[in-house]
Amino acid sequence: MIPVDDLTEAQAVEELTRLADEITRHDLAYHRDDAPTISDADYDALKRRNLDIEDRFPHLIRENSPSTRVGAPRAEQFSPVTHGTPMLSLDNAFSDEDALEFDARIRRFLKLDETPIRYTAEPKIDGLSASIRYEKGVLVQGATRGDGRVGEDVTANLLTIRDIPHKLAGSGWPEVIEVRGEVYLGHAEFAALNAAATEAGDKTYANPRNAAAGSLRQIDSTITARRPLKFFAYAWGLLSEKFADSQWEALEKLKSWGFQTTPQSVCVEGAEGLLAAYAAMEAARPNLGYDIDGVVYKVDNLDWQRRLGFVSRAPRWGIARKFPAEQARTVLEAIDLQVGRTGAVTPVARLRPVTVGGVSVTNATLHNADEIARKDLRVGDTVIVQRAGDVIPQIVGAILEARPEGAEPFAFPDHCPCPLKTPLARETTASGAETVVRRCTGELACPFQRIEHLKHFVSRRAFDIEGLGEKQLQGFFDDGMIREPADIFLLEERDKTSLKKLKDRDRAGETSVANLLAAIESRRTIPLDRFIYGLGIRHIGEQTALVMARGYGSAAEFLSAMDKVAARDPEAIAELDALDQIGDAVIEAAAAFFAEDHNRGMVQRLHDQLTVQDAEKPKTDTAVAGKTVVFTGALERMTRDEAKAQAEALGAKVSSSVSKKTDLVVAGPGAGSKLKTATELGIQVMTEDEWLAMVSA
Ligand code: IVH
Repeated sequence: MIPVDDLTEAQAVEELTRLADEITRHDLAYHRDDAPTISDADYDALKRRNLDIEDRFPHLIRENSPSTRVGAPRAEQFSPVTHGTPMLSLDNAFSDEDALEFDARIRRFLKLDETPIRYTAEPKIDGLSASIRYEKGVLVQGATRGDGRVGEDVTANLLTIRDIPHKLAGSGWPEVIEVRGEVYLGHAEFAALNAAATEAGDKTYANPRNAAAGSLRQIDSTITARRPLKFFAYAWGLLSEKFADSQWEALEKLKSWGFQTTPQSVCVEGAEGLLAAYAAMEAARPNLGYDIDGVVYKVDNLDWQRRLGFVSRAPRWGIARKFPAEQARTVLEAIDLQVGRTGAVTPVARLRPVTVGGVSVTNATLHNADEIARKDLRVGDTVIVQRAGDVIPQIVGAILEARPEGAEPFAFPDHCPCPLKTPLARETTASGAETVVRRCTGELACPFQRIEHLKHFVSRRAFDIEGLGEKQLQGFFDDGMIREPADIFLLEERDKTSLKKLKDRDRAGETSVANLLAAIESRRTIPLDRFIYGLGIRHIGEQTALVMARGYGSAAEFLSAMDKVAARDPEAIAELDALDQIGDAVIEAAAAFFAEDHNRGMVQRLHDQLTVQDAEKPKTDTAVAGKTVVFTGALERMTRDEAKAQAEALGAKVSSSVSKKTDLVVAGPGAGSKLKTATELGIQVMTEDEWLAMVSA
């Protein structure tokens, strides 16, 4: 690429056209489609080159230059919302020098003496910005940024986010205010969302930011409601009257009105303060649980902010100091297949170990065959590895110039790597469309699925067998001592006749063996819902297992019904279908599972070892039967799980969010927005004691 200083005018024209096209393409991919095709750092480099050329040839600046616009046009399915004041962007700084120059520039502009300027330094949350309009303290409209001037009306979706108050708390809010901030998704929530998507054969998101954007821009707000989005407020747009003298005071006010503000934000003095805040934020970054991609510096004094004003698309009073991209180069040594509990096969990149952002990376997920093909990754390639979401390593792409001769395109195996070598079929959806998921159909005959299945079986929410973690389980599995769930309950008996005694394994002492056997013994009696959940049938999660347990009442009823469902007995299918929240996916999964002899055998052998407790059929004659109850705040006399179980046993439905459908809210100390919403909606609210008195009456 020709250095900017060496460009002729003709080359500059050509280059500005090329950059405008390329940046527009990336803007659309990022903002409109939530699916960026290059890394942030590469995108920043394009923008920077565009700016540098414009600096050298100001008369060549194109109308609608990428440097004068933000974002991308809104998608057509949402109504347009014209922001009260435009939602602008921030210029970027990449080094200490850039930060010092920012401070010097402000000092020059305001003609200040040597007194250090006070700034706020706030984490730059890596999500998507939203603007929420309140009138007389009531949320009236919420929008995405769109092109900065006109955004998309996503009010219904924003209303589902818990951090966004429907009504402002406290006092002192302007009659009209557009509160601005960032909608984001935490790392754990992102991982869970992608895991569920992989399992269901849906597309996965590249990073938490895209997942947040995709979740917020759902046409159906009930889908958004199921995504645990969060919101940090850090700015405002239109105001009917001034409400603070400084950015810091503004943040405090936003907090007092019921918003979350970033806990790591600080007030600092002068250039030194800016640098120290950056270092502190960089150190805090790995433990935040959500993505930040830099630090935003803002002049604290709002009068000064007003005087400083804006240059084209960004304020003079603020700047985003970006973290360097956490990327590194390494060699893709192999692509292996990993088989999940339900047979979904995921390719995994084995990498020559490399340090990315302070962590040694040896594996990266490749999601599916399509992604490998799209990126044209070949074994032997030098690849760029990035830690997305700060935690999950990803391959950005291969460096083509470094491709070894003879490197072949990756041929996705057509057989499972398991000894059964089952043909891998592309999964289809109910409507017959092919998905990106390939599945091993070997089920429990596939050792990979078997071990994943066992891990699920002993997990906390299933049989919860203490002392039988993944490592121990793998050991027993490799020895052949545990091949299926029933074997766990036969461990003690078999140990008596075994030559390799448990107590001699891995130097495990007598007490730890005794503890393990006691833990196993204590789970020999198990509630029906846990028994069902522990079977690890596709689409039968905890909640579905509970519904089935309540519907059938006993293990005997459940097993005999499942045999009939597997035989496609219409009456049995209708009975299952009639249960609350059970749909075709569950029916199909249950039928397919129980149609397999080896699955039925496994369940039978397990059942023989256990005492499965009957489930209580939901009561219909209690004060709360059929009602939807929400518990919020701290509970002092029982745990959340106990409260939920108790309410459900009395025939109530427990929900985690308050809506018009809620009948009763039980609020403990510290209850916040849910209590507020309940009061606004006129829903009955009671204390924990009142609840206990009512249900024990
Ligand atoms: S202030 C005039 N504060 O970064 C712009 N922005 O490139 C005022 N962002 O569009 C924005 N954290 O999406 C501000 N603490 C923070 C931020 C923040 C993240 C995002 C926001 C903005 C972009 C600027």
